[in-house]
Amino acid sequence: MKSSDSPLVLGIETSCDETGVGLVRGSTLLVDAVASSVDEHARFGGVVPEVASRAHLEAMVPTIERACTKAGVRLADVDAVAVTSGPGLAGALIVGVAAAKSLAYSLGVPLFGVNHLAAHVAVDTLEHGPLPEPAMALLVSGGHSSLLLVPDVTADVQPLGQTIDDAAGEAFDKVARLLGLPFPGGPHIDRVARDGDKVAIDFPRGLTSGRDMERHRYDVSFSGLKTAVARWVEAKEAVGEPVPVADVAASFQEAVVDVLTRKAILACTEQGVSDLLIGGGVAANSRLRAVAEERCAAAGIRLRVPRPGLCTDNGAMVAALGAQMVQRGREPSAPDLGADSSLPVTTVLAGT
Ligand code: KG4
Ligand code: ZN
Repeated sequence: MKSSDSPLVLGIETSCDETGVGLVRGSTLLVDAVASSVDEHARFGGVVPEVASRAHLEAMVPTIERACTKAGVRLADVDAVAVTSGPGLAGALIVGVAAAKSLAYSLGVPLFGVNHLAAHVAVDTLEHGPLPEPAMALLVSGGHSSLLLVPDVTADVQPLGQTIDDAAGEAFDKVARLLGLPFPGGPHIDRVARDGDKVAIDFPRGLTSGRDMERHRYDVSFSGLKTAVARWVEAKEAVGEPVPVADVAASFQEAVVDVLTRKAILACTEQGVSDLLIGGGVAANSRLRAVAEERCAAAGIRLRVPRPGLCTDNGAMVAALGAQMVQRGREPSAPDLGADSSLPVTTVLAGT
């Protein structure tokens, strides 16, 4: 370590469309710089991998410089570099991993290639202090919907359930599209739903009853829900009636939130875990936060949800996990660390 303070860790995140660079000292967030290419993807209605990779390449150096300037540190002060090694878009990940390796090599500091999902969990330590061990984590974003049992975020993350088709955010984005709302749709559904009736339409709650529930106790499914919304809207249009967008948005959102919170609380209760953490872009959803709060309180479970800016993809989460790796004395990744688009969640630290 180059100073007498806690180690300064620089984190790089490029798994999707956000170029994130975060600086964390110990468990204190110094800066979280994010350059997003989301506007470049909007007209395609989804993230275009090639466009994302190029945007990362262009944004990487300026974002690192911006982060250092804002935090008032020099690159030479950095004690370790952490980077998302996977999962994510292959070309996008490669840009971040290459940048992190060059940086670590030139500064002569350790490199930690970390798992994106574990980083979504670790980020909460920046806001709410050390994670209870074990904790339950519900990660919901455009790319993932996972229920994880986390005995130790630096070494042991166990998948309990996941989506068997669409991710939760993907369902928000697709339903928003069919309601004529812009991409990414989650925040728009959230906003529009405030004026709607959440019990107006009884949309299906996938994998919550009968044999489906038995076989997929902690898994979720949103593809059937998305199709149900599409059919409902089509039926209205077919008879020339206006589509009550706010009611559809509110009822769809309620179905997603109901299933996610029910399954997460069931997992906590059955696994004897008393702390639930929710992360990922969909954790910014106001109804999800409200229902999770209500239901956790009723079940005697403590709830931790990072502020929305830390829920979406960012570099701070990678730096936070890197800082915990350093604190726990974990062995760094080898210099030939690669990007792995399908890195399993059980591999918290890659390339060791
Ligand atoms: O974590 P994130 O930034 O990137 C991925 O790893 O996917 O999550 C983005 C996703 C998008 O699908 C977006 O629509 C959704 O999170 N999202 C929301 C809200 N804010 C973002 N979904 C529902 N309600 C929101 N308020
Ligand atoms: Zn993510």
